Amino acid sequence: MAANQQWMLYGAYGFTGGMILDDALRRGHRPSIAGRDRNRLQELARTHDLPYRVVSLDDKQALCAALGEVDLVLNAAGPFSETGARLIAACLDVGTAYADISGEFHHIRTLARHDAAAKKAGIAILTGAGFGVTFGECLAHYALSRVQDAVRLRVSVAADNAQTTATVRRTVVEVLAKGGYAVELGKLRRRPLAHTHWTFKDRGESRSFAAAPLGELAALYRSTNIHDIVVGRQLSAGKARILRLLSPWLRLALSIPALRKRAGRIGSKPQTAQSPGNPAEFRSRIWVEAWDRLGRSHLFYLETGEGYAETAKATLVNVEKMLSHDGLAGSFTPASAFGYALLDQLDDVQISGK
Ligand SMILES: NC(=O)c1ccc[n+]([C@@H]2O[C@H](COP(=O)([O-])OP(=O)(O)OC[C@H]3O[C@@H](n4cnc5c(N)ncnc54)[C@H](OP(=O)(O)O)[C@@H]3O)[C@@H](O)[C@H]2O)c1
Repeated sequence: MAANQQWMLYGAYGFTGGMILDDALRRGHRPSIAGRDRNRLQELARTHDLPYRVVSLDDKQALCAALGEVDLVLNAAGPFSETGARLIAACLDVGTAYADISGEFHHIRTLARHDAAAKKAGIAILTGAGFGVTFGECLAHYALSRVQDAVRLRVSVAADNAQTTATVRRTVVEVLAKGGYAVELGKLRRRPLAHTHWTFKDRGESRSFAAAPLGELAALYRSTNIHDIVVGRQLSAGKARILRLLSPWLRLALSIPALRKRAGRIGSKPQTAQSPGNPAEFRSRIWVEAWDRLGRSHLFYLETGEGYAETAKATLVNVEKMLSHDGLAGSFTPASAFGYALLDQLDDVQISGK
């Protein structure tokens, strides 16, 4: 990273924002921190002796002034379907690069829309810098580099998280409320939630997954030429069947804001930003199956640590690459910007497969 490059962490006092800040300081960064809560920002700024900006996303003039002071803003304030568009618009106005940690299918889908404006402004807009998209998309690109005549991809994601925050639950409910998706015949198609279920054996263990509208799907739709892609989460066959049957009713129920809000609160506990215990206890895993033209399946596997801790690490690697990459302009996901070699910059990542 060039010594004179300045960046800002928006949403620095959130749970994930706090983990990113701790990792950033460990790696020698001195970002300015920003958000809308003066008290929490002041406390954090005092603790770490960092510059801070109190700025609401509703105040475009103040937002542009704050963003004009830095080369890049990292948005850790989700849901990104609520915060991303306003920050991106301000970044385009002042020529500041933008990155976020979204794993939201619908937000990542909007990325293509900003490509021309980002090129014109000479800035990079990168979404999905956190765990799911960085690791899932990079593993899929790694698989495609080995199976060059691949025609079909299936990505199975098993994040191992020490905690789930209220915002993450709310974000998941917001996405589920819009139903399922898959890439079929080269187009993104609406499907019921869990419209397909699959199992495979790896290292003698049977794994069970169902289709889910994860950000990885939107990223791979954009960054590959594969016309048949499905992405899923771990789910038993029985639960997948129930979810599929309930999918139309769930969409209907979750279209009511009050019910959506209530669903987002189920099982949530207040969280404080802290390190998630011994990271070695948590192992997140992703499998990518790539089918070649002859219908043969090739299995690739990635293993890494706790989901939120890996989000913080992956985010900083993405930010460092953006800051050191002169002339990167347009809208990107991690693998489309830097290729799967991005994973080489992360410790504790094991990949296998052929
Ligand atoms: N891709 C991944 O792998 C990954 C991993 C972890 C988290 N995430 C995503 O990151 C996001 C944050 O999660 P978290 O666990 O850190 O949640 P959190 O602890 O609740 O933090 C959310 C932060 O966003 C801010 N915020 C929310 N809406 C805002 C708005 N309209 N204007 C300004 N600030 C706003 C909050 O500030 P206030 O307190 O002022 O509202 C807070 O600082 C979620 O969307 C989550 O899904 C992604």
